[in-house]
Amino acid sequence: MQIIPLGPGFAAELRGVKLTDVADNDGIYAEVRAAFEEHSVLVFRDQDVTDDRQLAFSRRFGPPEVTKVGSLGTGSHFVILSTIGPDGKVVPPDHRYALRNRANQLWHTDSSFKRTPALASILSARTIPARGGETEYVSTRLAFERLDAALQKQIENSFAWHDYAHSRGQIAEGLATPEERAALPPVCWRMVWKNPVNGRGAIYLASHAYAVEGMEPAAGKELIDHLMSACTAPGTSYVHQWKSGDVVMWDNRATMHRGRPWPAHEARLMVRTTISATAADGLESMRPPTQQAAE
Ligand SMILES: [Fe+2]
Repeated sequence: MQIIPLGPGFAAELRGVKLTDVADNDGIYAEVRAAFEEHSVLVFRDQDVTDDRQLAFSRRFGPPEVTKVGSLGTGSHFVILSTIGPDGKVVPPDHRYALRNRANQLWHTDSSFKRTPALASILSARTIPARGGETEYVSTRLAFERLDAALQKQIENSFAWHDYAHSRGQIAEGLATPEERAALPPVCWRMVWKNPVNGRGAIYLASHAYAVEGMEPAAGKELIDHLMSACTAPGTSYVHQWKSGDVVMWDNRATMHRGRPWPAHEARLMVRTTISATAADGLESMRPPTQQAAE
């Protein structure tokens, strides 16, 4: 296995590895897992992807999420990101699928709004536009390490509220349905996720974050905005240009990402599997102290 660095201090391509190798071989899984902990974003090229292969690979890293209500693929282990309607044609720009793609173009980490947040996401390209539609990543670990010590200490001991309806509300009122709101009440997480393998902290925020526990709303929003800017400072991102056969895996504890636009008439179909974080991934220390005591 060859590790080729791709981004500014994070993200790497793994060469000489197939998804099926990782699924079938403990030693190869251990190597890929170590690279995941270290590089945060892993790119696998020229994969012969099927849903079953993607899921078998994903399961190695932990329990796969079941797709939430209101998303394509609900009830399965797959999130289908598509702009192709039931009639086989690309949907118009005001269609719910298209609006969801716009929400996906806000900086975020997957599933921070869920009761169990995500360790990792695995995304495979099935149909890609001729240009555009890239996925852009930043390292919130490197962003944390760029902060001054006082702010690091402050946010290590602060907790932010995350709400799916908040991020969707930035795109269109009512984009989160009453059913989704009921299924996904706001949740609260520590603002720094410490990786238990290497001890390195990362800012844990997303477009879903809207308030800081114990802070006035305006001051909390200001802190969140400041940290989001720090995470997404110019020149710190890795932009992945999708090719057919690409699979990208990322660490939701230590990165944020956003989709980039593409010509609206072109079809794009991506399939995501998402792995829930567990105690071994540092989940318990993310909960506010009151919840740690209660659970
Ligand atoms: Fe995402």
